[in-house]
Amino acid sequence: MSIRATAELDRARIAELTEREQRRLDESTPGSSAMFERARQALAGGVASAYQERQPWPIYLERGKGSRVWDVDGVERIDFHNAFGSMPQGHAHPAITRAVERRLELGTHFAAPTEDAVFVAEELQRRFGLPRWRFVNSGTEATMDAIRIARAQTGRDTIIKIFGSYHGHHDYVMVSIGVPYEQIGDRENYVSLRYGGGIPEAVADLTVAVPFNDADAMERRIERLFEEGRPPACVLMEPAMMNLGVILPEPGYLEAVRELTKRLGVLLIFDEVKTGLCIAAGGATERFGVTPDIVTLAKALGGGLATGAIGGTDEAFETVEKGEVYQVGTFNGNPLAMAAARASLSEVLTPEAYELIEAREDRLLRGCQDVIDRHSLPGYAVGLGAKGCVTFSPEPVVDYESFKVNQDGALADLAWLYNMNRRIYMTPGREEEWTLTVAHSEEDCDAFVAAFDELAADLTA
Ligand SMILES: Cc1ncc(COP(=O)(O)O)c(C=O)c1O
Repeated sequence: MSIRATAELDRARIAELTEREQRRLDESTPGSSAMFERARQALAGGVASAYQERQPWPIYLERGKGSRVWDVDGVERIDFHNAFGSMPQGHAHPAITRAVERRLELGTHFAAPTEDAVFVAEELQRRFGLPRWRFVNSGTEATMDAIRIARAQTGRDTIIKIFGSYHGHHDYVMVSIGVPYEQIGDRENYVSLRYGGGIPEAVADLTVAVPFNDADAMERRIERLFEEGRPPACVLMEPAMMNLGVILPEPGYLEAVRELTKRLGVLLIFDEVKTGLCIAAGGATERFGVTPDIVTLAKALGGGLATGAIGGTDEAFETVEKGEVYQVGTFNGNPLAMAAARASLSEVLTPEAYELIEAREDRLLRGCQDVIDRHSLPGYAVGLGAKGCVTFSPEPVVDYESFKVNQDGALADLAWLYNMNRRIYMTPGREEEWTLTVAHSEEDCDAFVAAFDELAADLTA
């Protein structure tokens, strides 16, 4: 990853291009505008989740096939959003469609175990090298249950997370994420800040944040928590951060975290809701060769159906096996979701599929970096497996603080508009990354690079 000197970007030019592109997108999405007027009468904010909101209106989708999606105005775009990284299989994959159709005929829900759930657990066991598995229905449920298991196993209440990481929307983890920067405190002693309303302060205070890519700071914080009489049950972290663009772990960081958590008797939970099944068959656990005590999965696991999983060591699952922790849920291991997951794992996300995704990723990263270098843009292309992004920052982003200080938000917003107007469907928001699928062609990747090249040329004209 090479970083060139910061170009003197013309802020007035960014504002002018943003206005032009915004107008263009508004004019080409009248169907979404009309749908928004209708939707907002019943759906709060016109959307099913706050992360689908957008001003002046969201772009409503109608269908998807392979690497493509179509909006309600009939505009076809190449999908790099892929449901926040849930669809590395591509849309409506025939193998998953067949499996779900078969299951529909056989009954969709019993709240009783089926053979597909056994198969999926066996396959995850093989991929992640962890012996015990349970299912849930989302990433939120996965991290919530993983934390409960860690608390039960250790008899401790405090938990540690990485500052700026998102782990779902339950109270334990809606802490120290996208918060007012001036309130976060110093990196040795971050303040536990609630992310949005409705989260009890008493719950937030049990969650202590530390900076990413700094094992020494983590160790010092854990030691202080011991001294304060509130030792942590677990460290919950993404092994590669996927919600500030993409931040890779520096060499030796994960190994150091593994070593210190083991030594201090703190469970290590890798939240692989985004990385799992997307950056390798066995996620970051396989890719970086560091095995946590517990791993959490969701998103890509269900091939488009809602499911999630928790895997762990025999010791971590002891309280679950003994029935001391109630790891429960009516829809856990839902037969439709398990049928889709089985087809995805056995027929779609195969070793050949990961090879193909790696090749596409390489092409996309190289193409984007070439644009950056030719135009001396302040930024770099970074990614792993199916995930990647262009980070608009003159310096490498290694944690939340370097992200906040260096990130060019206006440029990220403009890049999104350029993409949407050039048939590239990307995640809204400044902090998200692309997800490639088995259906993406070389031409799809080149189209992304061409749109980015146009932006760079217009910016530096
Ligand atoms: C790393 C991580 N963990 C957990 C979650 C929560 O998953 P869900 O939205 O399925 O509840 C997300 C969602 O984006 C995530 O990125």
